[in-house]
Amino acid sequence: MISESLKNKIDHEYLKKHLKSLDLYRRAKRVFARGVTHDSRYFEPMPIYCVRAKGSRKWDVDGNEYIDYWMGHGALILGHAHPIVTKAAIEQVRKGTHLGASHELEIQWAEKVTCLIPCAREGLVEFTSSGTEATMMAIRIARAYTGKKFIIKFMSHFHGWFDYTLIDYNPRYSSLLLGDYPVGIPPEVCQYTIALLPNDIESVERVIEGGNVACVILEPGGASMGLIPVAKGFLENLRKITKDNGVILIFDEVVTGFRDAPGGAQERYGVIPDLSTLGKILAGGFPGGAVVGKRECLSLLEFKAEGRRIAHPGTFNANPLSAAAGNACLGLILEGRVHPSINFKGEMLRRGLNDVIEDNRVDALVWGTTPSIIYVGFGLSPEDLNVSDIESYIRFQKKREESQKITRIIEKELINKGVHPMGSRFILSIAHTRKDIETTIERFNEALRELKSEGILRG
Ligand SMILES: Cc1ncc(COP(=O)(O)O)c(C=O)c1O
Repeated sequence: MISESLKNKIDHEYLKKHLKSLDLYRRAKRVFARGVTHDSRYFEPMPIYCVRAKGSRKWDVDGNEYIDYWMGHGALILGHAHPIVTKAAIEQVRKGTHLGASHELEIQWAEKVTCLIPCAREGLVEFTSSGTEATMMAIRIARAYTGKKFIIKFMSHFHGWFDYTLIDYNPRYSSLLLGDYPVGIPPEVCQYTIALLPNDIESVERVIEGGNVACVILEPGGASMGLIPVAKGFLENLRKITKDNGVILIFDEVVTGFRDAPGGAQERYGVIPDLSTLGKILAGGFPGGAVVGKRECLSLLEFKAEGRRIAHPGTFNANPLSAAAGNACLGLILEGRVHPSINFKGEMLRRGLNDVIEDNRVDALVWGTTPSIIYVGFGLSPEDLNVSDIESYIRFQKKREESQKITRIIEKELINKGVHPMGSRFILSIAHTRKDIETTIERFNEALRELKSEGILRG
């Protein structure tokens, strides 16, 4: 039972501090069905409306300042409005945002990607306009290349919002376990997608033995940005089974690409997929995505691949603005200073949050497989993260749901205190300073104390 008095106090303060946001939300609700433009930006009673951002900070319409841990949904590894990326983008705006022609920047951008991402080194690159489009294209390539139909994905792994892989990404929306198809997607469309439990290698083997499997797709750092970790050895086992059976292995590195390491999770874990999808950091904070990987697979986009050719139009594919920003961002990553810095900051925040939890003796856990993406959960233990069968999966989901009741209060209290986490998640950039991280830890400590004093948090 959550203490109403504290909740009311936090809600009251939130409303008082965000009156202009409230006005905007009232207007937004007249034009947007859910008042927001991305599911994850939904917030009760209304979200904050921001007007500008710089480095690790952003400011809302009411003049409140925040240390930002959304970081463009993970796209802004360099922080907001990094001067080098901004300069490249502004120069390109002056030269034209869409040339309706090929341009050198797209080649330079692809060359940088092939330098950084291991599976692209001897391979090819295909740009798209978003991460969703990239995973859609990767699956099409895998099906065209193998001539097979089935896709294996894992529950709670997210690959964008298109039809084939939305199944079982969030038990709130659809769960084949419960015979529950996503609304608006005909069961016939879902029939070739097999959603398996995370880390369940035996089921992967069994399904592949059944035949007709084109690909296995997963977030190599774990479901939903590392929320449910990938078990040790799982990637290696997947690589072996897929290779032995002519099944395409796709790493969805839309989040982990250029973040877990310069070469993404595949570099970090030393397991190289056939294809990989990229987005977010790829375009330096602008819209963009890519499929990269084996030459013989991506060659199906060649015009001479007669009869088997995959078409790929797309007005904003490799648009000059994203290419300019992406080139600038990847150029800095190639220089080698981004990762030591961001990983250090991730470790500092992780340690600080852990210390606060220990000092307050509350039943909470700090985790996250990606060094610079950190989760906080309440009532969860490290064992709960070992998900590999139905019992452990359901236990994790239930505990997480309970935990969310507390993290939602903490999130609002942190916003009141000038820190904007992405729900229970903190996404770092190199722009976060030592002071930002210390302040975040202090604010988190204050929020924990308040909840503890109200008996909301147990030791
Ligand atoms: C792992 C993963 N794949 C794909 C996507 C979809 O990318 P986009 O939002 O650019 O369409 C996301 C988005 O968060 C993601 O986290």
